[in-house]
Amino acid sequence: MGYTISLVEGDGIGPEQALATREVLAEVDRVYGLSLTIVPVEAGDRTLRTHGQALPDKSRDVIKKSDCCLKAPVGESAADVIVRLRKELVLYANIRPAKSHPNVPSLNPHIDLVIVRENTEDLYAGLESGDDEMATATRAISRRASERIAKYAFDLARERRKTVTAIHKANVMKKTDGLFLSACKDVASKYHDIGFSDMLVDAAAMNLIRNPQQFDVLVTTNMFGDILSDEAAQVAGGLGIAASANIGDDFAIFEPVHGSAPDIAGTNTANPTSLLLSAAMMLDWLGRRRHDERAFQASHALHDAIDGCLANREVTRDLGGSLGTLEMGRAVARRFKELS
Ligand code: NAI
Ligand code: MG
Repeated sequence: MGYTISLVEGDGIGPEQALATREVLAEVDRVYGLSLTIVPVEAGDRTLRTHGQALPDKSRDVIKKSDCCLKAPVGESAADVIVRLRKELVLYANIRPAKSHPNVPSLNPHIDLVIVRENTEDLYAGLESGDDEMATATRAISRRASERIAKYAFDLARERRKTVTAIHKANVMKKTDGLFLSACKDVASKYHDIGFSDMLVDAAAMNLIRNPQQFDVLVTTNMFGDILSDEAAQVAGGLGIAASANIGDDFAIFEPVHGSAPDIAGTNTANPTSLLLSAAMMLDWLGRRRHDERAFQASHALHDAIDGCLANREVTRDLGGSLGTLEMGRAVARRFKELS
């Protein structure tokens, strides 16, 4: 069977995280025999400098032909790479789990939630105009996209603790968020086994710090999801362990939540966990798509290996450890082999 994975190595800490992750995926492949073919793809700031485009046509073609894409962070050209790919490939669901881990410093040790963020519309659709004196942005929200993301959230909740909270500001933005909330309520009425409630976004921002255990699956519009997911990531243990998926009906891209971290690039100190957990989400997605039990098992084992390293403080310095990026990757690969 086999899987072809396009890999964007990106900018800043991206190539260091990518190198560590490739070593881990090689071990995954050795143990589970998934026949992974990793195809590096040029994209990002460096590619812009050398090729005149942040996402050359050749790179887009390689990504589109692959089974899915694993993406390390890119720098200033993020909008021309990931925002464009999300739109072009209709990757409408942005999935951002936030989970606390034993021995990882966090504001709250009991977080286990997933933010399901609508990924195609809202203020990020680029509908802006203006001059030096006045600028406007158009916030388009459709019933179709709102129902689509709500369904994703309810299906996900069914596999978890069966609770969905819709996050909005419908008391002020009565038309746009009113429509989003109404779509979520319509979908909720079809999922009798799933608990549903809604919350204003400012209250949600507060509750993510005050009482995050109350949340299971949160569903929200694009910009609120962007902001709340960084907050949730920080509450759960920081950007170094925050992974995400951009999922459509036929394709998906898996990437860390954070950016290219130019302040620590080239020092082999970046935490590789965010990209490793993104790779674990990727294996789970591939397993579901192809009904491949081995890919599922590999995803679970990779989660366990990462958890083991976190619990035993075999980590990078952002989490109080002393390992380099590559060394932490190797520690995960070693645990993976031992566990399997
Ligand atoms: P950032 O997320 O790159 O960094 C924020 C802080 O977190 C920095 O102090 C950094 O050192 C730290 N950090 C991030 N990842 C880490 C890791 N794995 N291990 C240890 N520490 C880590 O945000 P910043 O500095 O605002 O943005 C840098 C660049 O990233 C910008 O050019 C931005 O456009 C780009 N970016 C790209 C994204 C993407 O590719 N999807 C997403 C967000 C930003
Ligand atoms: Mg963001």
